Amino acid sequence: MAQSLDLIREEALKKISDCKNTDEINEVRNTYLSKKSELMSLMSTLGSLTPDERKEFGMKLNQTKSQISEALNAKQEELATVELNKKLASEEIDISLPGRNFSRGGKNPFYIIEDEITDIFLGMGFSVASGPEIETDLFNFELLNIPKDHPARDMQDTFYINDNTLLRTHTSPVQAHTMQESKGEPIRIICPGKTYRRDDDDATHSHQFAQIEGLVIDKGINIGHLKATLELFAKKMFGEKREIRLRSSYFPFTEPSVEVDITCANCGGKGCSMCKGTGYIEILGGGMVHPNVLKMNGYDPEVYSGFAFGIGIERVAILRYGIDDIRKFYQNDVRFIEQFKKA
Ligand code: DAH
Repeated sequence: MAQSLDLIREEALKKISDCKNTDEINEVRNTYLSKKSELMSLMSTLGSLTPDERKEFGMKLNQTKSQISEALNAKQEELATVELNKKLASEEIDISLPGRNFSRGGKNPFYIIEDEITDIFLGMGFSVASGPEIETDLFNFELLNIPKDHPARDMQDTFYINDNTLLRTHTSPVQAHTMQESKGEPIRIICPGKTYRRDDDDATHSHQFAQIEGLVIDKGINIGHLKATLELFAKKMFGEKREIRLRSSYFPFTEPSVEVDITCANCGGKGCSMCKGTGYIEILGGGMVHPNVLKMNGYDPEVYSGFAFGIGIERVAILRYGIDDIRKFYQNDVRFIEQFKKA
């Protein structure tokens, strides 16, 4: 019997040393040390031995068991280390590789200018209002004193959703919205936003463009307030040396109406090819809010007066940066946008 223990041990040790992974180790452990193993079944023969034989055989049996168990543990540890190293090697990261470079995009000059204009007016105590880009005929035209048959509508053809609903042609409808919401209280707002017209796109036209509307309503507002406000805006936007000029004009929602020009940055007012010899460049339209508009939107023209203006955002950006094509704002060509990146 002692001999069979030697045989079992030799056989087990051989198998253990042949194991190639931890799964095989578990298999061998099962074969030699589980309750049903040959070694364990020899345990049950102990009872039939004499006390001396039992002592000797029992000892040998235990010895064999622990030798096999130790060999299994040692091999298991060895294989686990090998397996771990293999895994580590396969997942190796080369931390000496240079990182991937990414470049941060620039801000479209359109937004640089929109933010600058907004800041200038916030500094004068205006707040920012907004309104829908999809408008009703009522707000886009009627409440601004442009009835159905008014010729001014011809210049503002747009995209219609139905007979009564359209993409707004200007930011002026926000004047009517703000007046109706303000319910007779004084107003001092600007509204930057997208506007649409059914124009064919070319270097100076875009079916989508943007304006900043301005509206001030209070008791005792006169055209001097309009002029001072726009002069301050022009100087902050285009430089302290700029002068402005108000030219008489016509808009249905203002009376009187003006077109505002600034002295040409190129020639300083002497006249050159950029200003077509006039010394001035037109930058915006404005005027005193028409009494009809005040009335239709809940303000008594006998008590309140106001001024309004509309600035083309792209136009200001074009003048500030000397951009030659309005479409460039919308094409998102990074080579164009990157030129305006602050260092
Ligand atoms: N809404 C006008 C346009 O798109 C611009 C404008 C002119 C707005 C005079 C005004 C204004 O508020 O007073 O052509």
